[in-house]
Amino acid sequence: MTTEAQQQDGAGVATSGDTLTVTDNRTGRQYEIPIEDGTIRATELRKIKTSDDDFGLMTYDPAYMATASCRSAITFIDGENGILEYRGYPIEQLAEKSSYLEVAYLLVHGELPTQRQLDEWTHQITIHTFVHENVKEFMQGFRYDAHPMGMLLASVGALSTFYPEASAIKDHDGRYLQVIRLIAKMPTLAAFSFRHNQGKPYVYPDNDLSYPGNFLSMIYKMTELKYEPDPRLEHALDTLFILHADHEQNCSTSAVRSVGSSQVDPYSAVAAGVAALYGPLHGGANEQVLRMLRRIESKDNISSFVEGVKQGDERLMGFGHRVYKNYDPRAKIIKKHAYEVFEVTGTNPLLDIAIELEKIALEDEYFIERKLYPNVDFYSGIIYEALGMPMEMFPVLFAIGRTSGWIAQWLEMIDDPEQKIARPRQIYTGRRGLEYLPLASRP
Ligand code: CMC
Repeated sequence: MTTEAQQQDGAGVATSGDTLTVTDNRTGRQYEIPIEDGTIRATELRKIKTSDDDFGLMTYDPAYMATASCRSAITFIDGENGILEYRGYPIEQLAEKSSYLEVAYLLVHGELPTQRQLDEWTHQITIHTFVHENVKEFMQGFRYDAHPMGMLLASVGALSTFYPEASAIKDHDGRYLQVIRLIAKMPTLAAFSFRHNQGKPYVYPDNDLSYPGNFLSMIYKMTELKYEPDPRLEHALDTLFILHADHEQNCSTSAVRSVGSSQVDPYSAVAAGVAALYGPLHGGANEQVLRMLRRIESKDNISSFVEGVKQGDERLMGFGHRVYKNYDPRAKIIKKHAYEVFEVTGTNPLLDIAIELEKIALEDEYFIERKLYPNVDFYSGIIYEALGMPMEMFPVLFAIGRTSGWIAQWLEMIDDPEQKIARPRQIYTGRRGLEYLPLASRP
């Protein structure tokens, strides 16, 4: 029953047209599996059985290296060519011409807003920036030096107790209000976490200011009656929020979808996203970049550092990406904005080291062969530091921007009739059928 092509292939698998023909060499049976959008449905493999009571074949894919978990119309990435689009719009155009709130509207609604829609959206988000006083008191209960990301994680989850109606996730009007609240309150929770960690009084939102301007006010305002953000910093921060707004099925977004698939309220689902982003492999790489640049200390030490990387002693942080095998388009945009920020804050010697390091690495065979280019984190930490943010705030800033993406993905997931509660299978490797022994009889 096995064809010649399949025998040569060794795996017993051959393709023809838009189907995949699989021969199960255990039984000699052949199966034709449809290929749709470059994928096969894993459940099709369940039909491949050795007997009627066999569960059927499964795929084993730790870390989802080759598994699409959903259909999504939100973010497109072409890693080979360094392309990133939100709802079809190139990130370069959005970063240059749009604002974070407009991008958030685009992600959530699927279309760019008209002027009237944008005004209404901005108004709604602006009037929801305050949090209940009990939220503030809850946050004040944290230890004096609590990590702001831990505080953000707990406080965004706590919002579900302030809005119990949020559990009605099929109620369109109700859930829209939660979407507004999440995008509106995230900067407030983030800024309160920062001020707490600094031992400074919390600053209430200023609804006369723009989204990033208000955030800067809640971070920096001291005794002045009105904080006036520098428009260049406001713009740079807004751009950083845009660049971090979504990145399809990354670790934190998958966490939001997975937890949200239990039909829990969106605050709890987003708390799962914040938790995932807390990890050093996700939201913490830019901190590692800063530490690395400090360690390199001067341009003279770059060559020996790069040699060490090539020997495998360590990694060049901020380089390489699971998906991008080209320059991360976000890194290019951030690099440009670094200069804008330094005009206000004065230059940071780490930027010169970073630029020289990038130049040397991009000309080196080791990095060329492995398609290792700067990623979003290579320059973002330098800008955050120039904005006066301590390293603990880096993932918090990431979370503010990513909230619109998480919530757009959550909305898409709960309206997708193909989605069910996320429940992976396992390959059981433990023991079976042991006899329980009372404590006294155990060896
Ligand atoms: N420095 C030196 N060598 C590297 C680096 C690096 N930064 N990244 C990958 N390589 C090498 C790696 O040693 C391997 O070489 P070989 O084939 O000789 O063994 C080859 O390149 C392929 O690497 P990999 O580890 O199989 O690639 P991956 O897709 O599993 O890893 C990555 C992707 C981002 C974890 C990795 O590139 C890395 O550790 N980079 C540094 C950390 C970093 O900047 N992370 C931020 C990622 S962007 C954040 C986001 O979008 O959320």
